[in-house]
Amino acid sequence: MESTLQSTIESIGYNVYLQDSLNELANFVETGNYSKFFILTDEFTSVHCLPLVEEKFAGKTYDLIEINAGEENKNIDFCIGVWKMLIDFGADRRSLLINLGGGVITDLGGFAASTFKRGIDFVNVPTTLLSQVDASVGGKTGIDMDSIKNIIGTFTQPKAVFIDQAFLKTLPPREILSGLAEMLKHGLIVDAAYWEALKNSDLSIPSIELIGQSVVIKNRIVISDPTEKSHRKALNFGHTVGHAVETYSLDNDKDHLTHGEAIAIGMICESWLSVKKTGLSEAEVNDIVKVLTRLYPKYQLPESNFDAMIELMKKDKKNEGNTINCTLLKSIGTYAINQICTEDELRESLKYYASL
Ligand code: GLY
Repeated sequence: MESTLQSTIESIGYNVYLQDSLNELANFVETGNYSKFFILTDEFTSVHCLPLVEEKFAGKTYDLIEINAGEENKNIDFCIGVWKMLIDFGADRRSLLINLGGGVITDLGGFAASTFKRGIDFVNVPTTLLSQVDASVGGKTGIDMDSIKNIIGTFTQPKAVFIDQAFLKTLPPREILSGLAEMLKHGLIVDAAYWEALKNSDLSIPSIELIGQSVVIKNRIVISDPTEKSHRKALNFGHTVGHAVETYSLDNDKDHLTHGEAIAIGMICESWLSVKKTGLSEAEVNDIVKVLTRLYPKYQLPESNFDAMIELMKKDKKNEGNTINCTLLKSIGTYAINQICTEDELRESLKYYASL
């Protein structure tokens, strides 16, 4: 499938830049009416990504706030640390926070900014594939608590997003695969041709055209439903089971699953549920399983752990009342939201994954 790159994508009151993005960032900083600049990084992006940004800053002064990398640190303690640094450095309401990093940085930084002094501006400079195609776009900010992902958060749109594919060259292959799961999801939920294109592409470092297509798909869905009352739930395909598996792994494995690895498992389970409940064909589920099991390593899911995972699914913030809610597929490229799944159905779906 041929695709041309749109250099700028318009979202809800802000632009996502896909070309010449660090110069666009420099221009934004230069022309914005800001009193102070803060850059939020982790120990990896400080080393690998900050120099590329500094090069463009041409002497502009800023204060650096660094937190520890890793989903286990996306919590209130690190958020308090960011608030405290903003206070200590004298941030005022005209300050700009630049979130330079992966999903933990853009989620936590966005949350810290959206609540500091009732909200200061922030922009996202996503440095992982996962944050480029998902977390940085769409205005979800948040932190985890009590083993529940993103349970505390706000919908606050950034003032701009600057995506530069050069950052991906510093990432280990496992991190690329983590973001790829969200790109594959975008094809599965709304664009069968994009799914086919991804299947047949060299995905070692996805092209900026493919990244752009994912951003366009996600952005279109977000614009139609910014606060997830209906259509945005499409983006939750694979995430009811996936988040439970991810949380379980975070709590129990030393070398825990990445977000994308967990979502790939979730997409397999929820594709199996889609055959039972929403009309996905056997041929389609086989296609999905073939692609995902080729890309992602098998995770051991002993049956003795299924109850713990169902308990995590019950706590998922996407549920309403006492039911467990999934977004499923009607076919590759069309989705069905608000599909209530029973504990038995979810247990069977985990069993299906374990049997592969
Ligand atoms: N990551 C799903 C969403 O932004 O809605």
